Amino acid sequence: MTNTDIEPEAVYNPSTAASLALYKSAHSASIKDISSYWSELAKSKLHWFAPFPTAVTGSFQEGSVSWFAGGKLNVCYNAVDRYCLPPFNRGNEVAIIWEGDEPDAIKRISYHELQLSVCRIANALKASGVQKGDVVTLYMPMVPELAMTMLACARIGAVHSVIFAGFSADAIADRIDDAKSKWVVTASVGSRGGRNLPLKTICDAAIKKERCVGVVQKVFVFDGNGPNGSEWDKEDIHVRFSDLVHAQWPVCSCEWMDAEDPLFILYTSGSTGRPKGLVHTSGGYSLYAMHTTANSFGLSQQTGPSSPNDPHKDVYACVADAGWITGHSYIVYGPLLNGISTFMFESTPMYPDHGRYWDMVQRHKITVFYTAPTAIRSLMRFGDDAPNKYDLSSLKVLGTVGEPINPAAWKWYFDVIGKGKCAVVDTYWQTETGGHVITNLPGVTPMKPGSCTLPCYGIEVVVLDPASGQEIDTTAAEGVLAIKQPWPGMARTCLGDHQRYLNVYMKPYPGYYFAGDGCRRDEDGFIWITGRVDDVLNVSGHRIGTAEVESALVAHPAVAQAAVVGIPHEIKGQGICCFTTLTEGVPESEDLIKELRNQVRTSIGPFATPDMIVLTAALPMTRSGKIMRRILRKVAAGELDTLGDTTTLSDPSVVDILISKVENLR
Ligand code: PRX
Repeated sequence: MTNTDIEPEAVYNPSTAASLALYKSAHSASIKDISSYWSELAKSKLHWFAPFPTAVTGSFQEGSVSWFAGGKLNVCYNAVDRYCLPPFNRGNEVAIIWEGDEPDAIKRISYHELQLSVCRIANALKASGVQKGDVVTLYMPMVPELAMTMLACARIGAVHSVIFAGFSADAIADRIDDAKSKWVVTASVGSRGGRNLPLKTICDAAIKKERCVGVVQKVFVFDGNGPNGSEWDKEDIHVRFSDLVHAQWPVCSCEWMDAEDPLFILYTSGSTGRPKGLVHTSGGYSLYAMHTTANSFGLSQQTGPSSPNDPHKDVYACVADAGWITGHSYIVYGPLLNGISTFMFESTPMYPDHGRYWDMVQRHKITVFYTAPTAIRSLMRFGDDAPNKYDLSSLKVLGTVGEPINPAAWKWYFDVIGKGKCAVVDTYWQTETGGHVITNLPGVTPMKPGSCTLPCYGIEVVVLDPASGQEIDTTAAEGVLAIKQPWPGMARTCLGDHQRYLNVYMKPYPGYYFAGDGCRRDEDGFIWITGRVDDVLNVSGHRIGTAEVESALVAHPAVAQAAVVGIPHEIKGQGICCFTTLTEGVPESEDLIKELRNQVRTSIGPFATPDMIVLTAALPMTRSGKIMRRILRKVAAGELDTLGDTTTLSDPSVVDILISKVENLR
């Protein structure tokens, strides 16, 4: 399908041959001279306290890329303060619309109110000893204070490290330890789907772990010690943050930051067990988040480029969690840097029922709605009645992110939610890229269900032959996805481990940024992501390393060996399947399976709960002692016709045993 199949009365401007040609020439120009392209944008879109002398320096190969170095700015000033001042004067306009767990819990916070709250939090952090360059860990529910604290960190030059509130105490402790983060901000409880999350209790369990003792100096707790908060309070560590914040003066100057100073760290999973803290910068990241927010969603009333013929204001809603990169770039920084209102949603699409998203679209007259394929698939199961009950006519652009969207889910989103009149933007990107790198643009480039389509401006995408590393120059191609030139939003390093950054992204194909995804480019030049080519799973859009799950399992005394692979899952996209051998003398039992499942939940978090645990006496090994994961993947997926050669295994009979075990578990 192309946009030409869509009815002419579509509320967005469908792509035309002319708009596609314009995109193509603008895109070629943008990658011909990345330095002038980004330099012009940086000058016109951001407020600089001191100008940058050069746009870009360094190379992928050396892992030394920098953007706008020497230029001074403050991201919080750009996202908040300047909109309260001339020429914008938008202080009274809504910056954040927050909808809590209960649908009637709604707050609207203006830019001016946001500025006051951010300043108070910034002053409270400073008064407690937080300094420029310190890492502040945030373990928070989806409440406005989360965005405010991120901005407060940016204001004083502290580096935030947000940990998604679904992570366990162990996972928090690992991240605090890795970043040597002296400061932690949390809340006594969070609410999700009608249930309370004891965030402070979980944080307390983390900071009591040996690796955090002596590292953490203060835990700032919003809401003090609420009724469901932890009993444990140490005067020298815990700070009743709401009280402290309330007592502060609502004026706080903005620190002058170098464009290359880190804005935040965000941990993500890789091929090894240890999560890596990707470092994003003040100048490059913020320009990139701002620019892609405006472009990819065709926003109409901000400082960035907009859909030219669109008269009415956008109500933009990204319903992700700010604990992941999507929330950083497309809930907090991207929208606010554009001076538009952003939506923060605390609950789940199923609470109080599966009509929640559509009810919100109707009540808030949302025009841009951005979610993940896994949410679409899970809502699609309930049929069309729920969305048909609500007035969804405000919608113009529907976004998807996080994993490939299957054509059936795309079609449902387009037909039933968008009524065939909305652009569906399939945004491909990663924690590492800081913002969208491949997506169709509403009203500009055509759509194809399941394809993320064409590169963003300033991004030069290539398809490489995985074996030779050579660029495939025919239009139709299949290989691995790589990016050929630096862009401002790229992560600059892995915190404390630049070598790992080089090894994972820059060394596999020298001269290119290697994304870790396979892809196909069709005869029209459109990109179709075929999935990760490394040992990283994508479960409901959450990135989980197989090695992380394996190390959680082998930490249990009953487990001798574990091998984790992905299995196709109707709703989650990918599920987690664990093959485990047990320590000598430990009997197999249902209780043990439950225990192991729980082991993964407590070591990583409930979102990483295995879908299948197969206890086995042996794993398929090569004669040199390597686990044959390819075979495990096929067995788990039931793709027995394409098992391939099993004769090289030290004991080929293991495979039949595993096949029957998996069949019994289905
Ligand atoms: O495999 C790709 C998949 O998600 C990975 C990045 O995960 P993460 O860093 O957690 O960021 C998720 C939010 C951007 C990618 O390497 N991915 C992301 N978006 C898409 C996608 N796969 C296909 N289509 C997408 N639109």
